[in-house]
Amino acid sequence: MQQYLQNKKGLVQGVFDQVFDKYDLMNDFMSFGVHRLWKKNLINSLNPSKNKTLIDVACGTGDIGKLYLDNTDINNNITCVDPNKGMIAKGKEKLINYKNINWIISEAERLPIKSNLFDFYTISFGLRNTKDLNKTLSEAYRVLKPGGRFLCLEFSKIQNENLKFVYKQYSKLIPLIGKFVVGKKKPYEYLLESIEKFVSQDELLDLMSKNKFQKCNYRNLSNGIVSIHSGWKIK
Ligand SMILES: C[S@@+](CC[C@H](N)C(=O)[O-])C[C@H]1O[C@@H](n2cnc3c(N)ncnc32)[C@H](O)[C@@H]1O
Repeated sequence: MQQYLQNKKGLVQGVFDQVFDKYDLMNDFMSFGVHRLWKKNLINSLNPSKNKTLIDVACGTGDIGKLYLDNTDINNNITCVDPNKGMIAKGKEKLINYKNINWIISEAERLPIKSNLFDFYTISFGLRNTKDLNKTLSEAYRVLKPGGRFLCLEFSKIQNENLKFVYKQYSKLIPLIGKFVVGKKKPYEYLLESIEKFVSQDELLDLMSKNKFQKCNYRNLSNGIVSIHSGWKIK
């Protein structure tokens, strides 16, 4: 399933080229730090353990990889993938003491990675930015080992009408906060538009099943502001 906005030439790359330098700071501003709790929740759902291999796709500045290693062993081998060199450079800077990270510059739709390699595949606030949801999901399935698990943290559809109203009003401020913190409004207009156009919780569940994942389910966090989808590669 192709995503219209994300297929506009250079748009998504341009967005992250403009924000990578202050990406972490802006995340804290926009979410009042709550993105850290959501990410922690994602890692806890994985039940991480020392000998399990992880690939984190659309890794950005490496938050998920860092949390995974902090919860297992700093010397574990993990793979972090992102097409944006600026984001990867920031990640390397931030995780300088984490020596066994394989950083790969690539899009999620075509991973330069052998099949059946990983126990866990995570994608946090990344799926929405990919050009093609089916290609991304089928690549996720391909690189997972049989018995491996897919977990996606992403903005979703809010389940409560009052919260939806408040969130909509607050959202209008986000490009202005972007202007104040990063000096740019446009990337945050893209953020809002991409969230609005992204598939619902149930639609994503359906896409996962169509791409062979089994035992698929999701959990809403913060009343559906975000959700965590989970699926398994059984064989
Ligand atoms: C909102 S950031 C999320 C970063 C990180 N996972 C986090 O949770 O903080 C989205 C990331 O998706 C990356 N991205 C954009 N298009 C992509 C694609 N086609 N495949 C994989 N990653 C992509 C961007 O470069 C960016 O680093």
